[in-house]
Amino acid sequence: MEHVTIKDAERMTSPNPFALVATRKEDGTANVMALSWWTYVSNSPATVAICTSDRGLTGSLIKKNGEFTLSMPDESIKEAAFLCGTRSGRDCDKAAEFGIELEDGETVGAPHVRMSALVLECRLVNAVAVGDHTMYIAEVTSVLADASRRPVFAAEGYKRLTAVDI
Ligand SMILES: Cc1cc2nc3c(=O)[nH]c(=O)nc-3n(C[C@H](O)[C@H](O)[C@H](O)COP(=O)(O)O)c2cc1C
Repeated sequence: MEHVTIKDAERMTSPNPFALVATRKEDGTANVMALSWWTYVSNSPATVAICTSDRGLTGSLIKKNGEFTLSMPDESIKEAAFLCGTRSGRDCDKAAEFGIELEDGETVGAPHVRMSALVLECRLVNAVAVGDHTMYIAEVTSVLADASRRPVFAAEGYKRLTAVDI
């Protein structure tokens, strides 16, 4: 075996999970961010953790509102979903610019992405600073699924999104 970087490791473990994190901005519009670093951390109560860079807008909105949604987008919107990882919501309304349709949440004020295979509505429980990211631990307050849609995963590290046949 040989030593490689943590970035090499992340590429080697791909396809990695992928979700769009949606939060509400102060003006009432939504912000949508591309995210691979999420995982289930408890079944009872149902709990997930997500890690976001402290440079982005999403983390500050989660801290302020205490809630967000995770949408696993369908492959039909994979290009638009990827674009949500290339721009910050500080400068633009990504959902409007990239044509991502949103729907109101059931149990949280944050919306979710309509063209999704799965949606998790999440309420913040704890935030843990970890290096250049913060890990947000959140209870899942609602789980919605559409079995007719195929979720995408991040391939070649985080270079592109693709549905995966197992
Ligand atoms: C496939 C993909 C996966 C990503 N995963 C993460 C992630 O897990 N955590 C993170 O902080 N940024 C991740 N990013 C980068 C953010 O989506 C990007 O910095 C975004 O502009 C932040 O948006 P915001 O400022 O509106 O929150 C990812 C980008 C892509 C393309």
